[in-house]
Amino acid sequence: MKLLEGKTALITGASKGIGRKIAEVFAQQGANVAFTYLSSVEKGQALEQELQAFGTQVKGYRSDASKFDQAEQLITDIVADFGTVDIVVNNAGITKDGLLMRMTEENWDDVIDVNLKSVFNITKAASKVMMKNRKGVFINMSSVVGVQGNAGQANYAASKAGIVGFSKSVAKELGSRNIRTNVVAPGFIRTEMTEVLDPKVVAGWEAGIPLKRAGEAEDVANVCLFLASDLAAYVTGQVIPVDGGML
Ligand SMILES: NC(=O)c1ccc[n+]([C@@H]2O[C@H](COP(=O)([O-])OP(=O)(O)OC[C@H]3O[C@@H](n4cnc5c(N)ncnc54)[C@H](OP(=O)(O)O)[C@@H]3O)[C@@H](O)[C@H]2O)c1
Repeated sequence: MKLLEGKTALITGASKGIGRKIAEVFAQQGANVAFTYLSSVEKGQALEQELQAFGTQVKGYRSDASKFDQAEQLITDIVADFGTVDIVVNNAGITKDGLLMRMTEENWDDVIDVNLKSVFNITKAASKVMMKNRKGVFINMSSVVGVQGNAGQANYAASKAGIVGFSKSVAKELGSRNIRTNVVAPGFIRTEMTEVLDPKVVAGWEAGIPLKRAGEAEDVANVCLFLASDLAAYVTGQVIPVDGGML
């Protein structure tokens, strides 16, 4: 028996990186997969093709998670196409790094909108469907940076810390409807988001990680699979680090 057989999952920001791997692992485990992308149109279309191999229903949507109206439309479209939504992984995220003294208002607003407001947008829209179903799962992608802070990432850290407070509140509000809400806090994971970093800085970080390596997207996807499945039926309101012991 596959862990997500018969479930419909939405993964935001799945054109690459962690979101892409989550989409693959979920489809492999029997889930019907709806996913979003924004600027990487070709990669999004390629993923839709690739996921067909798992034999479940799959569809990619070009949708900006930071826009309230687009998020509402997305959930309406998914319910029309798939019939329902059982699992949501709020994964879409960006960085626009800079020290506070040089951080522009635009870079602050963009990161908060894409990383944090998006989680409000999608959760609000999808929770209406889940409340009617009296079941559902939210998995929201934070970061160890949201817990410990990072010089040059005040906007990113604030957005990721905000996700923790939001998720713990929603877990309390929606628990009585059998809707679970948890947070995954990855450490340093090899994706396009992190490949821009100076290799010397990366080597320094890796040396400080107890497991002595960077994480892979699959490390994060496997924890999301556990949280999405009934194996985690009694887990809600938690923050699960996936960081090789970094925190
Ligand atoms: N990599 C790490 O070390 C690490 C550590 C901790 C937390 N995280 C978090 O994990 C998540 C995934 O990170 P990643 O490393 O996989 O990043 P990535 O490779 O840069 O992928 C980011 C994804 O988000 C999508 N996206 C960006 N803005 C969007 C928007 N407005 N609406 C919808 N989708 C949007 C991108 O789609 P398009 O390219 O199509 O625009 C892309 O698919 C992020 O929330 C990130 O903050 C990553």
